[in-house]
Amino acid sequence: MSNNRRILITGNNGYIGSVMAPWLRSQDYDVVGLDTGYFSACTLVPDLAEIPTIRKDLREISAKDLAGFDAVIHLAALSNDPIGNLNEAWTREINGQGTIRLAKFAKQSGVSRFIFSSSCIMYGMSAAAVVDETSPLAPRTQYARSKVEAERDLFRLADEHFSPTSCRNGTVYGLSPRMRFDTVLNSLTGSAFTTGRVEIHSDGKPWRPVVHVQDVARAFQAVLEAPRETVHNEAFNVGASELNHQIGDLAQIVVDTIPGCRLAMTPQPGADQRTYQADFAKFKRTFPAFDFLWTVRSGADELCTAFQRIGLRHADFTDKRFTRLSWLRHLLDSRCVDGSLRWTEVAADSNRNHDLALTG
Ligand SMILES: NC(=O)c1ccc[n+]([C@@H]2O[C@H](COP(=O)([O-])OP(=O)(O)OC[C@H]3O[C@@H](n4cnc5c(N)ncnc54)[C@H](O)[C@@H]3O)[C@@H](O)[C@H]2O)c1
Repeated sequence: MSNNRRILITGNNGYIGSVMAPWLRSQDYDVVGLDTGYFSACTLVPDLAEIPTIRKDLREISAKDLAGFDAVIHLAALSNDPIGNLNEAWTREINGQGTIRLAKFAKQSGVSRFIFSSSCIMYGMSAAAVVDETSPLAPRTQYARSKVEAERDLFRLADEHFSPTSCRNGTVYGLSPRMRFDTVLNSLTGSAFTTGRVEIHSDGKPWRPVVHVQDVARAFQAVLEAPRETVHNEAFNVGASELNHQIGDLAQIVVDTIPGCRLAMTPQPGADQRTYQADFAKFKRTFPAFDFLWTVRSGADELCTAFQRIGLRHADFTDKRFTRLSWLRHLLDSRCVDGSLRWTEVAADSNRNHDLALTG
């Protein structure tokens, strides 16, 4: 068991964080969250635990917020390409500068471990590429660029007292209190369940690495508990080779899982044909005892069971609360956040702390 017991998890209120923070708490970590709460009202299933949380924007934190922690797990970000395309400055400020500001305060405050939630998207995508941690980074969107720049500047802060590690995740799937239906497997499964159809607009051939949200939580724990020298200033693709799937394969698994559902392949010109497979040999070599416990099949099954339990309707599946870009647009349109994506007075009560859980 490691000594890094007191941890700050930023973005603990998001899709990954609302699974990871309770998981680490169940593992006897003393967990504190830090989150501005953009998606606090976007709850699909009840929270797994109450995590004490500092309600702050990453851009407003000070060194005081980092005092007394052994480690930081940094998840907070604007978390996909469409948001980056909506306003590049927000993604640059929050994902890029916000990360480095946090890391500098962490280092000043004597935090020894800093785990950054990055993405395989930073490799860019090209036909038939298999990317490992030494592959050139070719970000094609502001989101991907923000991850590349944050990682580069983070690694510059490494020294004998401060060990940053970058975990480059594939696309994450699985049930979370703060559900997202804007990622591939969650979207395919939600659509299958609520419409009886899985529709893909490409020819189904593009590859994606996918990983279950609970496995991501466990993988970050493995990094946290690893001897310093094995993870110091290192980047890892987080996943396993069998977790590379073609989109058509993901869709077929969903169809096989959800009774009565059918697959519609309607290739369209200009459809998303981005493709890449990730090489996970470094993760396997470094963490030989670690097993990824979830497969796409078991993950789709888990989602289907949960959707049955809560009676997921098509209107829930398409609700703005579960698509990050749509919800942020709603916060802007309703003037809950201003043009810099900071909360306004209007916001306070209506959106930050009001839980609109679909289940009671
Ligand atoms: N979900 C995926 O498939 C995936 C894949 C690869 C990498 N990642 C990375 O993992 C991390 C978590 O992803 P997620 O899917 O949970 O995203 P999410 O959007 O569900 O959660 C992000 C959380 O960060 C918080 N946040 C955003 N900006 C903030 C700010 N300025 N100050 C404080 N808090 C802020 C949000 O309120 C939210 O709770 C992100 O860094 C994302 O880029 C996610």
